[in-house]
Amino acid sequence: MANLHASVFFCLALSMMAMASAKQFMVGRSMGWTVPGPNAMSYNQWAESNRFQIGDSLLFVYPPGQDSLLQVEKESYDTCNTTTYIQRFDDGNTVFTFNQSGAFYFISGNEANCMKNESLVVVVLAERRQPSPPPSPSPVSSSSPPPSPASSSPPSPPPLTSTEVTPSPAPTGEETRTPPPPNGASLKVVGFMGSVGAFLGWVLFVF
Ligand SMILES: *[C@@H]1O[C@H](CO)[C@@H](O)[C@H](O)[C@H]1NC(C)=O
Ligand SMILES: *[C@@H]1O[C@H](CO)[C@@H](O)[C@H](O)[C@H]1NC(C)=O
Ligand SMILES: *[C@@H]1O[C@H](CO)[C@@H](O)[C@H](O)[C@H]1NC(C)=O
Repeated sequence: MANLHASVFFCLALSMMAMASAKQFMVGRSMGWTVPGPNAMSYNQWAESNRFQIGDSLLFVYPPGQDSLLQVEKESYDTCNTTTYIQRFDDGNTVFTFNQSGAFYFISGNEANCMKNESLVVVVLAERRQPSPPPSPSPVSSSSPPPSPASSSPPSPPPLTSTEVTPSPAPTGEETRTPPPPNGASLKVVGFMGSVGAFLGWVLFVF
C-alpha cells in the first residue's frame, strides 16, 4: 500500500510538472493575428526565436468578424489556398495546442491577408526538453526508493507439497518445451507420497 501511494503521488507530481512546463505563446504578442506591419517582425521570425514542444499552445487573437485562422497542410500554406484546410477557427480567441511533433502550418482565412504574410509555420520539437531548473524534482525521486526493497522479498513461500503435486500431471502433453526432469522428480515425489499413503493405509487396514 505504501508503494501504491508513493507511485500515485509520483505520477501526480510528474503530471503537475508537465502542466507547469507547458507554455502558451501569444502569436504576434500585442499585435495579435493580423497582417504584419511593414516594420514588424514576421510570424516566422518570431517562431524561429522560440522553442515549441508537445503540450505547448498558441493563442491567436483577431477580430472575429473580420479575420479567421486556418490550420492547413504545407501545400495550402505555400499557395495561400484557403479552401482546403485541416481546421478552421473564427471565434477571435483561438487556443491551439500541439498534440504531436513536426510542422504546423497556419494561414489567415482571408486569402489577401495570407498573401501579406499573415501566415505561420511552427515546428514542434520531438524530444522532451528538460525545464531549466532540473534540481527541484530530485528530492522527490530520492525519497521514494526506500520502500522498494520490501516488495522484492515476499515471493519465497516454500510449501513443496501443495504447489508441486497439482501441476505435475497436466503440462506433459500441452507444451513440448517444459523440461521433463522436474515433472519426473515431482512424479517421483507423488509416487513416494502415494506409496507412503498406501503403506499407511495398509497399516491402518491391517491393524
Ligand atoms: C485549393 O486546393 C484544392 C485541393 O488541392 C484545389 O482543388 C483548389 O482548386 C485550390 N484552390 C485554389 C484557389 O488554388
Ligand atoms: C493530433 O490531432 C490531429 C487532429 O486533431 C490528429 O489527426 C492526430 O492524430 C493527433 N495526433 C496525436 C499524436 O494524437
Ligand atoms: C512576406 O515575407 C517575405 C519574406 O519574409 C518578404 O520577402 C515579403 O516581402 C513579405 N510580403 C509582404 C507583402 O510583406
